[in-house]
Amino acid sequence: MSDLQLTILKTLGEKGTIADSSAEFPEINPLTFQSALNSLASKSMIEYKTHESEKYLLNDEAQDIVANGSHEYRLLNKVLESLEGLKISEVDSFMGKNGKVAQGRAFKNGWIGKDGDKLVTKLDKDATVKDSTAEQLKEIEKTGTLANKKDLTELKKRKLITLTKVFTFSVTKGTEFALEIKQLETDITSDMITSGSWSKAEFKPYNFNSQGVIPQAGALHPLNKVREEFRQIFFSMGFSEMPSNQYVESGFWNFDALYVPQQHPARDLQDTFYLKDPVAAKAPEDKEYWDNVKLAHEGGAFGSIGYRYPWKGEESLRTVLRTHTTAISAKMLKDLAKDPKPTRLFSIDRVFRNEAVDATHLAEFHQVEGVFADYNLTLGDLIGFMQQFFSKMGVHNCRFKPTYNPYTEPSLEIYAWHGGLAKWVEIGNSGMFRPEMLQAMGLPKDMRVLGWGLSLERPTMIKYGVSNIRELLGHKVDLDFIESNPAARLDQDIF
Ligand code: PHE
Repeated sequence: MSDLQLTILKTLGEKGTIADSSAEFPEINPLTFQSALNSLASKSMIEYKTHESEKYLLNDEAQDIVANGSHEYRLLNKVLESLEGLKISEVDSFMGKNGKVAQGRAFKNGWIGKDGDKLVTKLDKDATVKDSTAEQLKEIEKTGTLANKKDLTELKKRKLITLTKVFTFSVTKGTEFALEIKQLETDITSDMITSGSWSKAEFKPYNFNSQGVIPQAGALHPLNKVREEFRQIFFSMGFSEMPSNQYVESGFWNFDALYVPQQHPARDLQDTFYLKDPVAAKAPEDKEYWDNVKLAHEGGAFGSIGYRYPWKGEESLRTVLRTHTTAISAKMLKDLAKDPKPTRLFSIDRVFRNEAVDATHLAEFHQVEGVFADYNLTLGDLIGFMQQFFSKMGVHNCRFKPTYNPYTEPSLEIYAWHGGLAKWVEIGNSGMFRPEMLQAMGLPKDMRVLGWGLSLERPTMIKYGVSNIRELLGHKVDLDFIESNPAARLDQDIF
């Protein structure tokens, strides 16, 4: 407890109020005073008001004048002391740099004159001399200003005084006023419990206005925050998460199972990363399925004429970094064929494409993907379902455009209006999986499967205002950016 706080309480105890802190405690810095007041006010021991005003303060030279008289007054005294007059050449030796001012003002006041190389007094023997500079400064020291504005301006010009803002406080007793400051407890301790003193202890109230200490803890990457939002949307719509923790796939699951022909450009080295080691994957255990896929591609199965080319098992077993999470969806749908029933599945995970890297593209990114299997689904179901899904992430006006995917027919691109860019932007791709794919797996003819995918990066970049993808993913990511970004809410003003 500071002595100042006790002094304030004592003064209040004696006088009832402190009308003007600067008069009562002239030597105390107003900031120090205010912090003492704040501390007492927080305990309701006092109440106080702040008063702001302007006041002239004396600078060092002026304070010297108040203590020892003005330069001209000191010079006059010297002249009076020297019976035969004061040599002008000696003035500087005791007046220093103020010699000139002293002479000028003493001449102007009619106190001294020149006699050859000497200064002599011009005053009558019994004349009384008024040191008005010193007196004016004394008045300013006391009241902060002067009634005579001309004198005030003159002193300002001589840089003896400066105008400053001053804060003073008026203080009255508060509801908890006392001469001593109670030590309030901040914590309940085991000693207090064993001794029973806790029941009489007074506790410091919580200060809900104080800023909390930021806990030292890890932080989720913005991509993970948005991923979490997507997961919640999927869960709220009855979807379960697919096991997508596998980056290496066979061409079979990544392409062939999805009815992507082996000569499709997406399978080129320019688009897909192939692995050297292991160079080949195992064929799926279900031999009949393997044969079905071959049949579907070559032609003559499931009401389709196929692509009519010689399908190579070897090509389908090449290992690739998966180019889309639809490889996982395909495997899950194949499993579903064992016990077909309406099913909703999703995944959010990393995929790889051999792309030219620029501000918005990397060779890897994350896909958000959903598949939805049920009997007799139609294109209307796909559109309605997409509207429902995207409205959950704050996109209420979708547009659909026909597109082509090897594994879906019909296929639709989904567009949303981007207010910031003032244009329609593509936000997803969707479609109804082809019978060549589903029936080869053994799914019933009337079971339809809707699927759609979008990138995780695009909504994250929009949400967090990131224009270069390298700021989001890779070694250039700023850790501070990760730590300080708030949680994402997709349903709030994303587009
Ligand atoms: N795999 C597609 C893509 O890479 C997304 C998609 C998934 C489309 C499922 C239709 C059905 O964009």
